Amino acid sequence: MTRPFPEGFVWGVAAAAYQIEGAVAEGGRGPSIWDTFSHTPGKIANGDNGDVAIDHYHRWEGDLDLIAQLGIANYRFSVAWPRVMPDGRTLNPEGLAFYDRLVDGMLARGITPLATLYHWDLPQALDQGPNGGWLARETAERFADYARVVGERLGDRLSAVTTLNEPWCSAYLGYGSGEHAPGLTDNSLCYPVAHHLNLAHGLGVQALRSVLPATTGVSVTLNIHQVVAASEEPADRAAARHADLVANRIWLDPMLRGVYPDELIEQTRHLTDWSFLRDGDTQLIHQPIDFLGVNYYNPARIATAVPGRPTFPGTDRARGVGYGPEVPVTVMGWPIVPSGLTDLLLRLHKDYGVPLQVTENGIATQERLDRSGAPIEIHDTARIDYLRDHLGAVLDAIAAGADVRGYYEWTLLDNFEWAWGYDKRFGLIHVDLESQERYPKDSAHWYAGVIAANALEG
Ligand code: FCB
Repeated sequence: MTRPFPEGFVWGVAAAAYQIEGAVAEGGRGPSIWDTFSHTPGKIANGDNGDVAIDHYHRWEGDLDLIAQLGIANYRFSVAWPRVMPDGRTLNPEGLAFYDRLVDGMLARGITPLATLYHWDLPQALDQGPNGGWLARETAERFADYARVVGERLGDRLSAVTTLNEPWCSAYLGYGSGEHAPGLTDNSLCYPVAHHLNLAHGLGVQALRSVLPATTGVSVTLNIHQVVAASEEPADRAAARHADLVANRIWLDPMLRGVYPDELIEQTRHLTDWSFLRDGDTQLIHQPIDFLGVNYYNPARIATAVPGRPTFPGTDRARGVGYGPEVPVTVMGWPIVPSGLTDLLLRLHKDYGVPLQVTENGIATQERLDRSGAPIEIHDTARIDYLRDHLGAVLDAIAAGADVRGYYEWTLLDNFEWAWGYDKRFGLIHVDLESQERYPKDSAHWYAGVIAANALEG
């Protein structure tokens, strides 16, 4: 059976600066909170860091050639704020020039760029002292300045600019669980941080609109958790509803409706007094966007909290529970539930009525290089299965009425997977970390075929 995608469907691949670029001290780049965090003993698996990463800063031309060879027409990349503004405030022309060349290099190869402004690499200079970083309201204003500078310089050549990538991770993993930079572990901090990220989005959209041509879109990418209650018990259902407020509606409602849910404020009052929320803020956050970017890997099964067991990040009322042996998991331990993507897209369509693009979806695998022949082959059937099933889930959502306009696979090349280091390989293309050689996996060829056909076959 052939299942076609709508005409004009946007096909892409996604990546992020700190995970691929390396060259952290070149071209005038300043340190980011991720440089500091990854150099803090015990934070990253195997003591890995992004100092060299996969050397994309030097190999970008070859990497863009690979995208073009696969017929992938769109590339979602991220701009490193600390390259463009090493101290978070002052322009470094050499840093901006790198992205200028990168964007021109894409256009020269027929690849349309989608730029993410903030994929977690906050300039370290903006995070000094106990109330710095995203705890400071001022960081949102500095972000808007940075957005204006990038929008002014690159905006005429981009399909769209995405303000933030997965602010949930920045707020809850960065300040609650401590798994991400800056590594703080205090749930009460997550809420002012979330608000300042929301504010950065709103102020950033305003700044971008003032400099972008009307043809360049503006978006934000959220990892909305497809929350399901672990049982029909009232306590588990209440916990799931709570997790939805804390993880999802804290972004969606102010950005797309101009209000924080009353229930969210009530249910987090014991953690924070919300005094950081000022009159007029939610109007500032509520800026029109052209599409919502959705990152999906797996759903979240939620039960009520149990003393002594880890809670869902940022809250003391809910915990995530597994699915049991009948649901397979990836090497990340993430359950594989393609129908969760359909449900999520339909929910966003129904509740928020916004055009959608899947801006990340993919799987880590542990494949081996088969060096017996030439070319060297990598048989990552698990990735092909995962992508096929999730693309089918996107088609199901479209068939049921969701306005889904694009799909960006995560990711082109194996890279630095944050706290997991280099062990977890998400790429369509294998990277030999010793030689920095790139070897397309079977999935790269398979994905190229889907794109060429604009359809799922079989
Ligand atoms: C997402 C991140 C992305 C990548 C994938 C696997 O949360 O946005 O950078 O690490 O997970």
